[in-house]
Amino acid sequence: MVHTLPDPEFVCLYVSQLTPGTDFVEVQRIIQEARQRHTSLGLRGALVFDGERFAQLIVGRQELLDTACTFIENDARSTGLRLLHRGTDIPKLVPRWTSGYCGHLDLDLVVNAGGGAAVQAFLRLLEGAVMD
Ligand SMILES: Cc1cc2nc3c(=O)[nH]c(=O)nc-3n(C[C@H](O)[C@H](O)[C@H](O)COP(=O)(O)O)c2cc1C
Repeated sequence: MVHTLPDPEFVCLYVSQLTPGTDFVEVQRIIQEARQRHTSLGLRGALVFDGERFAQLIVGRQELLDTACTFIENDARSTGLRLLHRGTDIPKLVPRWTSGYCGHLDLDLVVNAGGGAAVQAFLRLLEGAVMD
């Protein structure tokens, strides 16, 4: 009998900036688009905005993550996309999907930490952020 292992899950953490000149109304649209798609795809994680930058943690199987990443990369409403961490070390307390607004000092802590420490800093940020 052949046993197939389930595809491993990956965690990705990104930051990017709202493209200068973009109407703030777009932030709400981006949040809604991500929420709809992630809920239907079963992707877990969070998207936060600090008034200037987005940060986003996504957990899921590789092909779903790749799809989400391609959307973000090709979306003209954000620029300077940077991957802070990618790995299979899935933290236990990743929300199903949530989004909202965070403070820029908390987001600085995430960006300055980098790597796996950035993931931990991001999850701490969610506790103090205004989420849906
Ligand atoms: C910073 C940023 C992060 C985004 N994150 C996601 C995401 O995680 N998942 C998603 O589905 N869409 C996300 N979006 C929105 C998609 O880029 C957008 O829905 C898509 O490009 C629109 O494609 P469509 O017109 O084919 O629906 C994000 C956009 C930005 C600017």
